Amino acid sequence: KKASIGVTGLAVMGRNLARNLARHGHTVALHNRSGERTRELVERFGSEGEFVPAYSAQEFVDALERPRQIVIMVKAGAPTDAVIEEFAPLLERGDVIVDAGNAHFADTRRREAALRERGLHFVGTGVSGGEEGALHGPSIMPGGSAESYASLGPLLEDIAAKVDGTPCCAHIGPDGAGHFVKMVHNGIEYADMQLIAESFDLLRGALGLEPAQIADVFRTWNTGRLDSYLIEITAEVLAHTDAATGKPFVDVVADAAEQKGTGRWTVQIGLDLGIPISGIAEATFARSLSGHTGLRAATRGLAGPERTPLTGAAAERFADDVEQALYASKVVAYAQGFNQIQAGSAEYDWNIDLGAVASLWRGGCIIRAKFLDDIRAAYEAEPALPTLLTSGDFRKAVEDAQDAWRSVVSTAVRLGIPTPGFSTALAYYDALRADRLPAALVQGQRDYFGAHTYRRVDREGVFHTEWATEARAERPA
Ligand code: 6PG
Repeated sequence: KKASIGVTGLAVMGRNLARNLARHGHTVALHNRSGERTRELVERFGSEGEFVPAYSAQEFVDALERPRQIVIMVKAGAPTDAVIEEFAPLLERGDVIVDAGNAHFADTRRREAALRERGLHFVGTGVSGGEEGALHGPSIMPGGSAESYASLGPLLEDIAAKVDGTPCCAHIGPDGAGHFVKMVHNGIEYADMQLIAESFDLLRGALGLEPAQIADVFRTWNTGRLDSYLIEITAEVLAHTDAATGKPFVDVVADAAEQKGTGRWTVQIGLDLGIPISGIAEATFARSLSGHTGLRAATRGLAGPERTPLTGAAAERFADDVEQALYASKVVAYAQGFNQIQAGSAEYDWNIDLGAVASLWRGGCIIRAKFLDDIRAAYEAEPALPTLLTSGDFRKAVEDAQDAWRSVVSTAVRLGIPTPGFSTALAYYDALRADRLPAALVQGQRDYFGAHTYRRVDREGVFHTEWATEARAERPA
């Protein structure tokens, strides 16, 4: 029997995707650069479904029914190009190559265009949910042609997570759209993680709570509007005690956060598109700051305020205030991320349905959360929504939270607890709602030193002031 899909690259993500497909009744061809992994998969998991092991590229291609569908699950970058070049010459018109790795969407656009020339479909797809997700139901974000989705879509929808019976998988848009959306997912993931980490730091620094107590706070929050995978695992991590020392696990882990680069891409592309994704940017910078051990060692002695824990009514209120600040900051981070998707979609003509993106992030992925259903509803009601911040329920929630949000940020400033995520989110909120921004002064400065010109609030046209002359005469530029 021929296989309906093949997976090449059988490290844990590829292996789990293959097993997930087989468990759903699909016959899966298997291939890996070294045959050892292929053999091992069949030996250990062969009983889970129908696998067709292949020990050469030709054997793999021959094992597949047409149109052939090959999922590549290897490292992003050169290894992906190498595997594409290995298989493309063996394929026929109409066959589909799927890249399920974390590729940069610009690479995906390049590969898609090149393979289209050769009559092949190339589907760059985001897959989120880690190893467990890949096996039990990830969130899947495929790009590429609508034609390729017609054959591939049903298989992907089969293995995706389901929320209320709806698969967490939908065709995102042409060429790089899927990987773009996955990139922003990861950027939002960074922002969300940073905000949660700041909440922990605040509860500890301002209330003097122990990690295990803070775990309980997070558990409580997880029963409300913050209900999400990241809050849930945060409680688990905080409650964990290091076996070797008996200390809270979080106190024995080196405080230098690493990254594989998708957050950095999100920020770079945000700058290119001119979209202020300050929450994602601060989260990414916070990770890089944490890793600068030399810089941190050199500055450790710099003076700071006395860190006296809160007492009385302020202390009583504080955890609830942090919950509100976290919720409001999260809304800002997601609002910024969705605006980035909107901008990418416009720039590359992808026609991405933001409601559908929110819908497929409800389950399976790392940022899965109850409130993504509210985001889905907001975009379904108003697809061209300028920002989530003005959408009915979010607007009200953020406005209701603003007093607590301001109070938390000022407490952080007063006690010297760094909260770049909370602070930038609040600054974004205040800047957006401002009648006037000091950008007017920046324009004046630019005109002064560089004759860069400015517009006026009361007249059409572009102007320049002769700053060097006594008269400072203004003229149309
Ligand atoms: C996912 C994750 C996954 C990966 C991150 C980790 O959606 O399943 O985002 O893609 O674990 O890329 O990223 P960092 O190493 O950059 O934190």
